[in-house]
Amino acid sequence: MALPALPKAELHLHIEGTLEPELAFALAARNGVPLPFADTEELRAAYDFADLQSFLDLYYALMAVLRTEQDFADLADAYLERAAAQGVRHAEVFFDPQAHTARGVPFGTVVEGLGRALEGAEERHGVSTRLIMCFLRDQSAESALATLEEARPHLDRITGVGLDSAEVGHPPAKFAEVFAAAAELGLRRVAHAGEEGPPEYVREALDVLGVERIDHGLRAMEDPELVARLVRERVPLTLCPLSNVRLRAVDTLADHPLRAMMDAGLLVTVNSDDPAYFGGYVGDNFHAVAGVLGLGPEEQRALARNSFEAAFLEDDEERRARYLAEVAAHPRDPRA
Ligand code: ADE
Ligand code: ZN
Repeated sequence: MALPALPKAELHLHIEGTLEPELAFALAARNGVPLPFADTEELRAAYDFADLQSFLDLYYALMAVLRTEQDFADLADAYLERAAAQGVRHAEVFFDPQAHTARGVPFGTVVEGLGRALEGAEERHGVSTRLIMCFLRDQSAESALATLEEARPHLDRITGVGLDSAEVGHPPAKFAEVFAAAAELGLRRVAHAGEEGPPEYVREALDVLGVERIDHGLRAMEDPELVARLVRERVPLTLCPLSNVRLRAVDTLADHPLRAMMDAGLLVTVNSDDPAYFGGYVGDNFHAVAGVLGLGPEEQRALARNSFEAAFLEDDEERRARYLAEVAAHPRDPRA
């Protein structure tokens, strides 16, 4: 009989990136939204990306099928079911409100739909959750500030803010004001940095935005002083290996710096980013790196421990301790 999957937290997951082709077509039919693809096979064939921007173009276009509160609830519930099957015990879920409000879907529709699914996740799937609202860095600082204002009535559902979308040319400092305002509201802070952008963006995210975790952070490895700082300050980096291959941040999985980052003493975690587009959920990412980079059971267990350490569970340390105990008690099997 198959052993249960290694318990883990997923900390870098865009809910819109969990939109599987089958659900996209079902929602398109339900909402009468035309899609420029004949069927799921033709859509999947389009998942051949040259870089981050070529992915984002399709990712934003396909969101057109998401219109009602029920759509967002169905999307999140489908993710949570798949994640639970791969050992996820805690998920911190990103969403991109501006990608929806810009097409006329109200902020409240998005957050109430997602919130409903996340609220029921513990009972339905045995997964605890947090919701993190990301600002699109290729939109203006004013638009981010307006989005934070829209979020105000819903802050009971939102744990933190993040920063995503096209990185190069959009340095973190552009969003200093909105991140300061978010901190004033008691929100946690994370940002994508060093995915395609330079190490300087990682430093700026820490120093100007005050982020507590860096999403990706791959290119920090180009700057030994920055690496030393990230190690010293125990700043978690949420890596997404299959995403990095699909978006060509690395040539092949064998070239991925995950092992080098662990060896450097960095607090790294493994995540799926946009699993419907990149060929796998978080357990698939664990399997892939374990196989190609030769990570043994103890190294995989260390990654799982890191994920719970880096999770925003300060309001529930008992739960964090329980999850860490589950990792320690996991049967010693090479599988993740
Ligand atoms: N939005 C969704 N996935 C993303 C990624 N990998 N980088 C930046 N923005 C994103
Ligand atoms: Zn991401």
